[in-house]
Amino acid sequence: MDKTTTYQMLSKQVQSLIEGVDNTTGQLANAAALMHETMGWWWTGFYLVRDGKLRLGPFQGPVACYDIQPGRGVCGTAWQEDRVVVVPDVEQFPGHIACSSLSRSEIVVPLHDGDGKVAGVLDIDSKELATFDEVDAHWLQVIARIIEQHALGTNDNQP
Ligand code: SME
Repeated sequence: MDKTTTYQMLSKQVQSLIEGVDNTTGQLANAAALMHETMGWWWTGFYLVRDGKLRLGPFQGPVACYDIQPGRGVCGTAWQEDRVVVVPDVEQFPGHIACSSLSRSEIVVPLHDGDGKVAGVLDIDSKELATFDEVDAHWLQVIARIIEQHALGTNDNQP
C-alpha cells in the first residue's frame, strides 16, 4: 500500500477513535498508539504547552525528556515558529534534543487551540534517515487538524 493510501485510512481511523470522547489524555494516548502501531515509527507522541514550556504528554516509544523550552530542539522550533519542521538527519539540526540516541530523523507538527495559538506539538521520530517528506507533512497536518477539533477544540477539554 502506498503512503498516501495508508495515511487516508489512518486519518479516518484517528477520527473515529477520538470523536465524541471527553478525555483529552485518553484521546491523545490512543491517537499516538494507533499512529505508532500502524506506521512502525520509533517514537510517536505529544508535547503540550504548559507554563511557558512544552511538557511531555501521551506517547508511544522509549522514555523521553519531560520539558522543552521555547525555541529549543525540533519541538521548540516548531512551537516558536508555528510551522511543520521536517528533519532528515537529526545530527544536522542545531540544538536537536536527543531523547533517544537511536533517533535519526524526525517530524514535528504544531497543534492549535480554539484561538489559533499553538497548544502543543505532535512529535514523531524514526530510526532511519530521511523517513519524512512532503507527503508525511501534508497528512500529519490533516491528522493534527482532526486532533485539534476533537481533542483540543474546547477550553474545558484539557488534560
Ligand atoms: N527530538 C526532540 C525532543 C523530543 S524527543 O524526540 C521525544 C527535539 O529535538 O525537539
